[in-house]
Amino acid sequence: MDVIVAGDRAELDVARTELGVGRLALVPTMGALHEGHRSLIRLAGEHADQVAVSIFVNPLQFAPNEDFSRYPRTFMDDLEVCQEEGVRLVFAPSADYMYRPDRQVSVSAGEMGAIVEGAFRPGHFDGVLTVVLKLFNLVRPDVAVFGRKDAQQLALIRRMAADLDLPVEILGAPTVREPDGLALSSRNRYLSAADRATALSLSTALNEGSSRATPPEVRQAAREVLDAAAHADPPLLLDYLALVEPATFTEIPDGHVGDAVLAVAARVGTTRLIDNVVVTFG
Ligand code: PAJ
Repeated sequence: MDVIVAGDRAELDVARTELGVGRLALVPTMGALHEGHRSLIRLAGEHADQVAVSIFVNPLQFAPNEDFSRYPRTFMDDLEVCQEEGVRLVFAPSADYMYRPDRQVSVSAGEMGAIVEGAFRPGHFDGVLTVVLKLFNLVRPDVAVFGRKDAQQLALIRRMAADLDLPVEILGAPTVREPDGLALSSRNRYLSAADRATALSLSTALNEGSSRATPPEVRQAAREVLDAAAHADPPLLLDYLALVEPATFTEIPDGHVGDAVLAVAARVGTTRLIDNVVVTFG
């Protein structure tokens, strides 16, 4: 069956009538679809009758110095991926449609949006939550799927759904990796072969860390890998390594029992990469 492409609320409403009743899942994306996105689409299909994908490079979540203008845009390839994966509806609005010049109201990610990743990308999570809420209101899915690769984003979306009583179920999907461990990302296509070799130290550090028993040992083992990578060519420029409580992203105490997220962000060449892994203590 052909995928329906909608660009605004009127087209979405027509599409929804065409799709009929039944549970609808939404997979929000910024396009440049890869295996990670495909796995989200498949998980969505297990929890709904129809799957919709949104493709929108959201200007609100990029700071002026970030890569909005060079973010990969591969719409025709993305449509083919959606078609292959049995997606019934693609919502691909324009930026002008999503953000009217006179708009005033937006979502605040609160204090949780200003820590860890948010400390390095001020306003980023406000932009993410604002667009995700708009996408929910436009597409009106019963369930929405997000990757654990962006763990703080997923935690904040869960928080928004709880705090604002959104009538949508939020599902998290496992991180898809290359055979050598590098987490798939639309930004990986910026990496040269040398960049990629250095970038591999993110997942190596998380692996080394997660094999240790206590929080201090986890932090130290991961940091040793990242310190070594800081001397590689090209060097790894670390933004943060954090061991945090999964729902709040606050640092865990040394005696923590239960799950924690070991999260890392670093720059390699001109590319900024993030990754994380869940570590269980006790
Ligand atoms: P984007 O980076 O395109 O990612 C879309 C979804 O794919 C997110 O939920 C992300 O966590 C997930 N994803 C990315 N890489 C993955 C991987 N290797 N394995 C599993 N899932 C992966 O995240 C965004 O877009 C935007 O912030 C968005 C939520 C669409 C709002 O603009």
